[in-house]
Order: sequence, then C-alpha cells, then structure tokens
Amino acid sequence: MYLGLDLGTSALKALLIDETQRPIGTASAPLSVSRPHSGWSEQDPADWIAAAERAICALRAAHPVEFGALRGIGLAGQMHGATLYDQADQALRPSILWNDTRAASEAAELDAKPVFRNLNGNIVFPGFTAPKLLWVLRHEPEIFARTAKVLLPKDALRLWLTGEHVSEMSDASGTGWLDVAARGWSEKLLSASGMTRDQMPRLVEGSAVSGELRPALRAQWGLSAPVPVAGGAGDNAAAAIGMGVLAQGQGFVSLGTSGVIFAATDAFRPKPESAVHAFCHALPGLWHQMGVILSATDALNWHARICGMTHEALDGELPETLQAPGATVFLPYLSGERTPHNDARIRGAFAGLEHATDRPALTRAVMEGVAFALADALAVLRDQGTAPERLVAVGGGTQSRRWLDIVANALELPVELPAHGDHGAALGAARLALIAATGAPPAPICTPPPIARVIEPQPAMASAFQQAHQRFRKLYQVHAANI
Ligand code: XUL
Repeated sequence: MYLGLDLGTSALKALLIDETQRPIGTASAPLSVSRPHSGWSEQDPADWIAAAERAICALRAAHPVEFGALRGIGLAGQMHGATLYDQADQALRPSILWNDTRAASEAAELDAKPVFRNLNGNIVFPGFTAPKLLWVLRHEPEIFARTAKVLLPKDALRLWLTGEHVSEMSDASGTGWLDVAARGWSEKLLSASGMTRDQMPRLVEGSAVSGELRPALRAQWGLSAPVPVAGGAGDNAAAAIGMGVLAQGQGFVSLGTSGVIFAATDAFRPKPESAVHAFCHALPGLWHQMGVILSATDALNWHARICGMTHEALDGELPETLQAPGATVFLPYLSGERTPHNDARIRGAFAGLEHATDRPALTRAVMEGVAFALADALAVLRDQGTAPERLVAVGGGTQSRRWLDIVANALELPVELPAHGDHGAALGAARLALIAATGAPPAPICTPPPIARVIEPQPAMASAFQQAHQRFRKLYQVHAANI
C-alpha cells in the first residue's frame, strides 16, 4: 500500500492505493487561509500537520488492514510557501503562501539582477520564495536572524514525518534559488538574495527516497515495516505524474484554487520574458512549462461567499447547455496575476452590469473570466510552440460540467475528463511513493488515466467566445491603466 498526501490550499487530501494503483480509500481535511492585509495570504504550519493527522486517522479507521500494510508515502503540495524554522525546528511565523504578493517590490529588485533569469530561468514572481525572505529580512529582521531552515509547505509535512530537511527538484524550482538546468541549489542565486546554502534543505529527485517515517509515528500508526518517504513534487508536477503527463505534447488544465496550464517539455525551456514558468519535472531528466493564474476556484468561492451560497448551488442555477458569453465581464485578479501579466497590483473587476444582470449572469461571468485568464496563459505556451493539442482537466472546479464547457470553448481545445474522480496530485504523490519504495521504472506506472468524457469546443460558439475574450483583454488594459 502507498499513501499520497496532497497539501492543497483549501484542503489536505490523502489517497491510499495498492501496488496495482487501485484506489483503496481517500480522506480529506479542510484548511483555511488568513489574509490579515491586502495581498497577504498565510497558513500556520501546525494546521497542516493537524489536517494530515485528521486525514490519516480517517483513512486508518476506514481501512485498518490496508493501512497496516503501508510501504511508502509520497508528498505533493502547494508550491512556493516560505516556511521558516529555527535551530530547534520550531516554525518562526505563519507560512507566506504562493498567492501572497506582499514581496512585490523585493521580487522586482531580485528580478532586475540578470543572474536570476539566467540561472533560475523564471521571472522572480512575488509569490516565489526568495523575495519573501528578503521581505522578512527587511520587515521582521529578528525572525530572519533566527531562520535556520526555509522549507516549502509539503516539506514541512516531511519534517514532521521523517525529522529531515529535504526538498525535491520540482518544488525547489519555484523558490528562485534553484539552477533549474543543473537541478541543484545555486550559490550565486542564494548569495544574491542574502541567503546561505545551510538554510536550504537537501535535494532529491521526486521519485527518490528522502527519508523514513519516524519510529514514533510508525508505532502510533501500528506499522511494523519501515516506511520510506519519497521526494514527491509540487502539486502541479505531482498532478502531471498522476495524469501521465511526461512527454512534450502532453498537458493538463487545472481548476484548483489556482489555475494552471501545464505542458511537459523535452528539455529545460526557459522563457522568462513571457511570464511562463519553466521548472524541473518530478522525474529525473524531465522539465515542464506552465502558465499560472492566481485565482480559479478561489474566484468562484469568493463569489459564492458574497452570495451566501455554495459554489454547487450557484452552478446549479446555470442553464444545462452552454450559452454564448453575456454582456458581463469579470477579471479574476483577486490576488493580482502571474501569467501573462506579472502584475501584483491588479485587482478583480466586474464590468457591463445592467438592470437585467442577475446572479446566474454574474456566476457565468466569473467562470468565463477564469477561463479567459487561462486562455491568456495558454496563448503564452502557443507562442512558444509548447502548447498541447488537448488537455486533461484536473482540480475541484472540474466537478462543474458547465465550467468545463466554458473552459474548452475559451481555450479552443478538447478537454478530457478522467473517469475516476479527481485524485490528480494525491495520485501523483502515491505513484512517486510506489516508484521510490520499489525501484520500479516510472514510465509504466505514470500512465494516463481512462477518460470518461471529452469536451470539444463548439464551432458555432467560437466567434462569440473570441469577441468576449477581446472584451476581457481590453478591460484588463483599461483597469490596469487606472490602478
Ligand atoms: C504554481 C502555483 C500554484 C500553487 C497552488 O506556481 O503557485 O499552482 O502550487 O497550489
């Protein structure tokens, strides 16, 4: 049995599979985000561990015999979060998350040093880890002085599981400190942002063993055999492992808290001037590109909160069949945006409201706005010739058939819905555990899932969606000019 843990932003998911990858059970525990100031986004690492304990406890209760046969754990999680520890491995402050843009000026300052784009191959985005540490140095110097280790969110879970400081290549790519071509920490990048090598965790590949489950946890969970913990992956690379997205031409669209267009690449293909991310994949010798938008289901959840309804109820108010976009336009930039704008100051907007605008019209505009933002991210990959010709759909937002219709039509690509629910990143993490524990070759394990449905764009809708996309782009320009 192999356990995949996916530390998301809104929930931690646990998935237990057997050696043939049959899903045995899942459990999840919700997480909330604290936003004490505009642009801030934080979580307490203690809440991650409590959520993992709750989900594992539920899995053990539901599948005691199978859990007792656990032979490996894999970790996936939200990327980029700066999680700071002192010498005694005590967390020094809440983790500063991937969608936190407080470090925008520090990011611009680091990005202006050519060494970052040259060696890391990416814009230093405000959400990356390096500028956050510069922010901590300037605003919380007493905490910076006590920072013995900087860990990424899923690696904070690893510290609890194994007692070791380890990360892996895919997640480390998004710190700003990794030489992504060489797959190792860069002394030049670390020193250019005032950091030292000993503040970094050891690095392994995602499919390698990073450590073993601590004896105390083994005893607590009634496990007799040693349990290796695999390197794992950032949530996007992990979802790619789960969906069999390894080779150039394969990709996925993720409708999670963030939105992602992910494309596997045959080599390291940096293109920082386009605001694309170029990162290591979770298997040795592989890389990927992705366009990232900061609010996907986060935007629909925001709208649901304001309406005092669930997102499922809002979805249920929409007509069954796809409608051409209406007059209302929504910009989903609630936390600023990464691809393609790299704009931490931009915020969301509704435009084109009239007396007839009702709640379903706003819901539809929110779904369309997220889909057009994803289309802008896809356009960046298309410009570079790395865009896939079809995309597997992953993430919680894929439960909405209507939203998937809108996404397929905005992207003008067929979107494939996997048959067995949305295990995405948790399945990828469990697969990496299986590979690390058994030494099995990755390719036969990381296969694409069976597809339940292919959602094709509708030719009759093409021009209405293109026109609405142009209105969306113009609104961004006008809105950005007025901020
Ligand atoms: C990727 C990114 C997000 C988070 C969300 O660069 O910031 O997709 O990983 O969990």
